[in-house]
Amino acid sequence: MDTILTFLSIFFQMYRNYKKVFRWILVSGLLLVLLFHFWSPWTSSGVDIRSKWSPVQKVLSKKMGDIIRGYPDINYHKKEEVACRLAQNACVCLAGEETFHLPFSSLLFPPVWAYNLQYAFLENHHDPEGIKHHRAQEYKNFQRRSYNPADVLIVAEANNPLQYPIQGVEVQPLKTIIILGLGLKQEARSSYTVNLTATLGTFDVAATVDRVSIKGEGEKDMTLSSPRLSALNRQLQFVTYTNIVFHPKTADPIQFATDGHQAFFTIKVGHRKVPKLYNSGYSGSYNITALVTIATKTFIRYDKLKDLIDSIRKYYPTVTIVIADDNKHPQPVTGPHIEHYIMPFGKGWFAGRNLAVSQVTTKYVLWVDDDFMFTANTKLEKMVDILEKTTLDLVGGAVREATGYTATFRHTISVEDGGEEGDCLHMRLGYHHVIEGFPNCVVADAVINFFMALTHKVQQVGFDPRLSRQGHLEFFIDSLGSLHIGSCSDVIVNHASKINLPWTKSDIQNAYEKFRYSSSGGHDSNELFYFKYRFKCMTRQ
Ligand SMILES: *[C@@H]1O[C@H](CO)[C@@H](O)[C@H](O)[C@H]1NC(C)=O
Ligand SMILES: *[C@@H]1O[C@H](CO)[C@@H](O)[C@H](O)[C@H]1NC(C)=O
Repeated sequence: MDTILTFLSIFFQMYRNYKKVFRWILVSGLLLVLLFHFWSPWTSSGVDIRSKWSPVQKVLSKKMGDIIRGYPDINYHKKEEVACRLAQNACVCLAGEETFHLPFSSLLFPPVWAYNLQYAFLENHHDPEGIKHHRAQEYKNFQRRSYNPADVLIVAEANNPLQYPIQGVEVQPLKTIIILGLGLKQEARSSYTVNLTATLGTFDVAATVDRVSIKGEGEKDMTLSSPRLSALNRQLQFVTYTNIVFHPKTADPIQFATDGHQAFFTIKVGHRKVPKLYNSGYSGSYNITALVTIATKTFIRYDKLKDLIDSIRKYYPTVTIVIADDNKHPQPVTGPHIEHYIMPFGKGWFAGRNLAVSQVTTKYVLWVDDDFMFTANTKLEKMVDILEKTTLDLVGGAVREATGYTATFRHTISVEDGGEEGDCLHMRLGYHHVIEGFPNCVVADAVINFFMALTHKVQQVGFDPRLSRQGHLEFFIDSLGSLHIGSCSDVIVNHASKINLPWTKSDIQNAYEKFRYSSSGGHDSNELFYFKYRFKCMTRQ
């Protein structure tokens, strides 16, 4: 107490003696606070990250429109056999016409059927107009978010005196680069001028050249002029671009102009891509335990699951098995290298897949159903080999039924533009092409329930947990355009018999089928196709 009092009395003594100094410190402190408050250029105004059109994009769009719509008064002759192959962008919901009428012809050439999703979903909906409007709005939002200026058409006009890079210029957010490739090739005149305009960045020069005058260094518009063309071209080799608006992945459309001529190109803005690598140890041959985790989802059928685990252990005794389980009364599933995850009752099929896949730490994950059985033909090494040696992200195998029939379930998927009411989803049996060096393997868009994939790729796509009872193709619709998918017919897993006669079914199986194939499964699927994917129709074979 005494010390505090002594300190205070000394302080007041000093204050009386050095009043002026104290006041000066106080005033300058306040000034500093004010300065920091008002002088913070980025935080005070904020960065508008709503997607909207920049002035350059507007000019570019008009210019490209003019080029595309040029010469309207010159006649043309359509070549029907080629023109009919072009996308019409107005799909209609039509089933395929039957071409053969032979016995069993539908087995050899399964007919194409069409399913009017618009009708099926809206018919039972209490507010069809409301949901249509909502879907349209969400779609507009999605389009705005996914718009990328780097995808826009840019035509370099003929005889344009401007030389510039059309693509391939990249800068990291808020960093600086030299724009390679700028130049001017013009006939002799008294003075040469070019200007550059950006939206998300500024221009400058990394060096200056004599007899070139520069206006707007460090700004979004920069003009360079010189009486000598060679000097201007030399100067253009030093033009830099600095990104000033942070965005992790976008592009800045650049306008490059001289008298009477404009050119456009984009500078991509983005972080470097960080790889995702798995350290699986090095060995001469594929070490399946280090490379692969087997994932499955079980519901009610513990007897089948036990058979599956026993069959895996016969061939791969140390590979990790991840099991997602949403039974009402979970039973213990124990053993070495088994991870058993209990979920809330009835969470469902895709939720279980999501959970199982999320726990995988190896480079590859193998998906199996809980009623599959490994045999000597279930060679996981073959799947690893094709994934290691090609650009495939996912490869399916074949499933042999108890009847001896082997299925690969290969499909191709395409989406056709259908205008206001939604698009059309087309699924067909078949594949795109055979894979060179792997004669039993093909490339497709969807494969069977028995597949191996790069773990992080599958995790990126995910399994929509809204699909609770049935669903498989939905995963492949989600992965369209992001996964490269293959299918090999020589990696085979057995399917514990499914086509039982009703009177031989066990109680467990009856309970399972009642749950999985109950009619309520159909409705949420309609909603997913109609709303989430914005389809109006699905045609399928
Ligand atoms: C850039 O140059 C073009 C052609 O010389 C001209 O029309 C335009 O106004 C200039 N823009 C700026 C911002 O200087
Ligand atoms: C294979 O990988 C596992 C797990 O990483 C390891 O324990 C085992 O020793 C490896 N086997 C060989 C032959 O390298």
